[in-house]
Amino acid sequence: MISSSSEQWWAGAAGYQIYIRSFADSNDDGVGDLEGIRSKLGYLSDLGVDFVWITPFYPTPGDDWGYDVADYCDVDPLFGDLDTFDRLVAEAHDRGIRIVTDLVPNHSSSSHRWFQAALGNSGAADRERYRDYYIWRDPPPGGGPPNNWVGYFGGPAWTLDPDSGQYYLHLFLPSQPDLNWRNPAVGDEWEGILRFWLDRGVSGFRVDVAGGLVKDALLRSNPQLQPIPPGASRWEQWDCFEHLHDVFQPESQEVFRRWRAICDRYGAFLHGETYHLDPRGMDALLPPDGMHGGYWFAPMHIEWSADTLWEVLSGPGDLADRLLWAAGSHDMPRAPTRFGGGEAGRERTLAMNVLFAFAPGVPVLYQGEELGLGDGHVAPESKLDPVGPDSDVAAGRDGCRTPMPWMPGPFNGFSAVEPWLLSEPRPTEHTAAAQEDDEASYLNSHRRLLAVRRRLFETEGLAGEAADWGRDGDGAVIVLRRGSVVASANTADTETTVQLPAGSELMYETPASTCGASAPLPAQVRLAPRSAIVCRTN
Ligand code: GLC
Repeated sequence: MISSSSEQWWAGAAGYQIYIRSFADSNDDGVGDLEGIRSKLGYLSDLGVDFVWITPFYPTPGDDWGYDVADYCDVDPLFGDLDTFDRLVAEAHDRGIRIVTDLVPNHSSSSHRWFQAALGNSGAADRERYRDYYIWRDPPPGGGPPNNWVGYFGGPAWTLDPDSGQYYLHLFLPSQPDLNWRNPAVGDEWEGILRFWLDRGVSGFRVDVAGGLVKDALLRSNPQLQPIPPGASRWEQWDCFEHLHDVFQPESQEVFRRWRAICDRYGAFLHGETYHLDPRGMDALLPPDGMHGGYWFAPMHIEWSADTLWEVLSGPGDLADRLLWAAGSHDMPRAPTRFGGGEAGRERTLAMNVLFAFAPGVPVLYQGEELGLGDGHVAPESKLDPVGPDSDVAAGRDGCRTPMPWMPGPFNGFSAVEPWLLSEPRPTEHTAAAQEDDEASYLNSHRRLLAVRRRLFETEGLAGEAADWGRDGDGAVIVLRRGSVVASANTADTETTVQLPAGSELMYETPASTCGASAPLPAQVRLAPRSAIVCRTN
């Protein structure tokens, strides 16, 4: 059972991200839904997670698959209704699982009644009231967009509204207009939205695009570092500018300070999509009175090597206990794919998750990671991501968004009908059902990992212990010491020797480990390629 406001309940907690469209479909319309999540609470509780973050389930036209929100205080009929949501929260709490939802405050959908009113579609009085909820500017003399900003999805960040002759700002799709956070009325609306969900029993929020929100007051152009080369991908376009004025404006912290005060009253965990790959930038995004935490994306941007891994694990230093550690998300290729694919990619991802599990901060699994899933295969004609495959990642974001493979058979048991995103079926051994009974499966490895983590956090008081990162085995083994616990991961593709403190007791090993359950362990053990172990020392 969940008590309503235990202080900082997330200290020592482990999370799980649910990309709702692809998790479980309860009504066989091909799209995952809230009731589907409810039907899998047993699975989530067996896995041992303490909270789930559910991606947006609000009414939406679906241009960005839910990140274009048309009403922040309701459920899209595709995903259920408010009663289904309430049932899900109640039943999750009975199983000791908290629900975290996604707030999308940087932009709404252009179908949101605020934007429709701003366009003048609900009368002159509404236009007057809502116009300033969004960011409008006249074109400069000579025409064209008001400044040189580009969107995250590529192309200019401005679209002309032909009726008024003004441009509106959108850092994402033209159908995702940015809200004007310099208008206090927008802030007031949002405080009501937070309370609406907190009163329904939500235990925290993941804030989408938390580096966005407030923009430069004068909307100054960004310094341009180089001309945009023809055919540049969205990230190449983005990197042609120094982003001084569009994102990471310090005034956004004022918003988070107010939200933090609200969340603290409910004991809720406020954390953001803090897309900064430098620990110093993360530090600025996470002041002590702002969001409680933020996702650390650097591990999703590395090639597998001992040095890069070391850098992203040890780099955050004292900041680490404010971080959420995730190897994957609905926006990035899955970690096993990024880390070389196949069994090697899967073993590397598990080894990384072993280190995440004992790092300060909160580890979060992306749905399917517990099965060792790499990207699903989506044929070019079936791709649905509006960003498209021409982005930095050939598969776009579709590959990580394919439906969960629950069992062998039609559509891998996700739905009785063709899913919204068509992909090749997964092999039997990648399904949850097949892994259930196999002790050496990824599913059971993750269950054991989360169980041993929970136990050690309790018995060894790990939450209060600092992390000490080291290297062994000629640098190939990353070693995390935290209090009496030592977690070691062999990044190499060869067997590597690691030194252990005298009298170490083996608490966990990944299936490939050859360490064995001898207690106490010898002072030197050989770690199999890409394997990890966790020991307790005296
Ligand atoms: C965030 C979401 C991503 C979405 C974007 C625009 O980055 O994670 O899926 O496309 O915001 O809302």
